[in-house]
Amino acid sequence: MTPELPHAQLDWDDQGRPRSRVFDDVYFSSDSGLDETRHVFIEQNRLRERFAALRAGERFVIGETGFGTGLNFLCAWQVFQQQAPASARLHFVSVEKYPLSHADLQRALALWPELADLTQPLLQQYVAVHGGFQRLVLEGGRVTLTLLIGDALEQLPQLDAQVDAWFLDGFAPAKNPDMWTAELFAELARLAAPGSTLSTFTSTGWVRRLLNSAGFKMKRTPGIGHKWEVLRGEFLGWPQDTPPPARTKPWFARPAAREKTALVIGGGLAGCASAASLAARGWQVQLLERHAQLAQEASGNPQGVLYLKLSAHGTALSQMILSGFGYTRRQLEHLQRGQDWDGCGVLQLAFNAKEAERQAQLAAAFPADLLHLLDQPQAQARAGIGLEHGGLFYPEGGWVHPPALCQWQASHPQIQVLTHQDVLQLRQVDEQWQAWDGEHLLASAAVVILAGAADIKRFPASAELPLKRIRGQITRLPQTAQSQSLATVVCAEGYVAPPRLGEHTLGASFDFNSQDLTPTTAEHAGNLEMLREMSNDLLQRLNAEQLPLESLQGRAAFRCTSPDYLPIVGPLADPAAFTDTYAALGKDARQVPDLPCPWLDGLYINSGHGSRGLITAPLSGELLAAWLENEPLPVPRSVAEACHPNRFALRRLIRGKA
Ligand SMILES: Cc1cc2nc3c(=O)[nH]c(=O)nc-3n(C[C@H](O)[C@H](O)[C@H](O)COP(=O)(O)OP(=O)(O)OC[C@H]3O[C@@H](n4cnc5c(N)ncnc54)[C@H](O)[C@@H]3O)c2cc1C
Ligand SMILES: C[S@@+](CC[C@H](N)C(=O)[O-])C[C@H]1O[C@@H](n2cnc3c(N)ncnc32)[C@H](O)[C@@H]1O
Repeated sequence: MTPELPHAQLDWDDQGRPRSRVFDDVYFSSDSGLDETRHVFIEQNRLRERFAALRAGERFVIGETGFGTGLNFLCAWQVFQQQAPASARLHFVSVEKYPLSHADLQRALALWPELADLTQPLLQQYVAVHGGFQRLVLEGGRVTLTLLIGDALEQLPQLDAQVDAWFLDGFAPAKNPDMWTAELFAELARLAAPGSTLSTFTSTGWVRRLLNSAGFKMKRTPGIGHKWEVLRGEFLGWPQDTPPPARTKPWFARPAAREKTALVIGGGLAGCASAASLAARGWQVQLLERHAQLAQEASGNPQGVLYLKLSAHGTALSQMILSGFGYTRRQLEHLQRGQDWDGCGVLQLAFNAKEAERQAQLAAAFPADLLHLLDQPQAQARAGIGLEHGGLFYPEGGWVHPPALCQWQASHPQIQVLTHQDVLQLRQVDEQWQAWDGEHLLASAAVVILAGAADIKRFPASAELPLKRIRGQITRLPQTAQSQSLATVVCAEGYVAPPRLGEHTLGASFDFNSQDLTPTTAEHAGNLEMLREMSNDLLQRLNAEQLPLESLQGRAAFRCTSPDYLPIVGPLADPAAFTDTYAALGKDARQVPDLPCPWLDGLYINSGHGSRGLITAPLSGELLAAWLENEPLPVPRSVAEACHPNRFALRRLIRGKA
């Protein structure tokens, strides 16, 4: 379960420096925190030389315990800017149990005016930072910051990464003995890339000895300021007397690298996000869409809701939603507020006793800045309309115009958008995937990403993925003078949003059978009924009952869902070869055959985003890119496996239904 994670509780000394109340310790100890960071972390890890030696397009991964004020991160980023080739990339993964609030971060970083050029973009992206994995993309993707919000001993075991340099920070060992443990150091070793280095500000003997036993060769070296000595070291390898970490199952392993060219088939949220994440990593991408423009199907609604359907039990889906919400919310900072999106908050009404109980559990499990309960008068005041119930309020939620997000994602100069291209067939020729429309070769590249929602079943390779289409229809309602008081998105069974360009979006119906996308008056009537149940007052304010049903405007599209409601993201194995290779699992599911996965080399999936593509599709682009580039995964390993396209073939085998 995601624990409630309060923000850091700080006191400020007479020189404006922060001090932790919980740990009774300082964030930076000497008069110049900047000099200390540079000496302890940058120099002892030889980052200047190592950054300068990076090849074009190469990546460097830093891991840190204790993000704190982000000073170490900003210093590393600055040196990277100064030393690394333009196309190299920096990944910084940092774990933090008590994240600073935005206001405290701003106040702490104001101490370092020489870093202002980097502080500003960090602060702009430091929003919706909640529990678990939170990815921030900076400098157009040259620098990626993945914050793991939670206890280091809980978060690091979930990380899948190869770390080139460790910054071991996290308050003095004497003040924070729970963190400085053999267990933590074993995690640092598990995650260390060959030749990984480590440095820390402490020279405490037992820390040095425990690190040595974990496989690092640590040395004392002169410190700075009042620190007489600090520690630096190198990873020599996993200690022989310790059992090795569990091996990744071959069907969830990382396929071999490919040349950096990709075809993305499908120009909705999933395709545009995939294209954007790859282009940011220097890939050449061709984005093929059958319509005249991007975002014409499910991603074409005028307004979609940024609503988090969480579980109080920390399920894989709930973790994905919390990480995805933060990621999308930060992307929206690049778009135009009011026209492309609005962070007006989302109010989920407690419309019956079961829902009220669910909401009470969520309110107990998550921090108030993510969600909190409002009673009926408070809910009414917040929403600006009459309501019969209170509910759960998500202050950072809101609505998004999905086509605007798609357009922004696809606007990278390394993405070529090819519209009117209906891909009917894929062929694999000489390590290239070719997209064909009957007789015509449309495009080819080393990698193909299938992002065409349920229509990816058209291709034999992905035909067996269990995707279902569910038709949904929204109704567009013209705003009135009275309806403009609606100040937040209101949801119950359906949703209604404050107006965008003079219209409210009211949604959405669910039809599991119809394959026809012509809007129907019956579903408009159903949407109005949902509105009446949410707020009869808003129904009146909109004069909705006076509008002839036939005059109502709207649109219908298909959601695309998987049986476990998780998206399907990552590489895919050849279905028949998978069954042959791992047939033994049908007899004994516990054994792990040591046989490489028969991948469909270079074929990847990004689909199954159901009713919440705004939350899951953008982060899935990052997950896909992380699989392709052998990078730190942006979600816990268990979540990446829960979203893995091979999960269905595996389940079929284990249940003996292959
Ligand atoms: C009525 C309704 C309301 C919704 N409300 C919300 C909401 O409030 N919040 C939320 O987060 N989500 C909502 N969703 C869900 C969200 O819209 C989807 O999860 C998301 O748009 C899925 O994006 P996608 O890129 O996977 O699919 P799509 O947007 O459907 O994109 C797939 C694209 O692939 C193209 N394509 C397919 N096959 C081919 C081919 N062979 N060749 C070329 N092009 C191809 C299609 O033309 C299409 O453009 C709603 C969905 C519906 C239908
Ligand atoms: C000295 S500060 C880090 C300074 C920081 N690197 C910087 O550049 O500002 C130590 C940080 O470690 C965090 N921390 C302490 N124990 C932790 C734990 N067990 N798991 C995760 N973070 C922890 C604290 O909340 C605090 O933010």
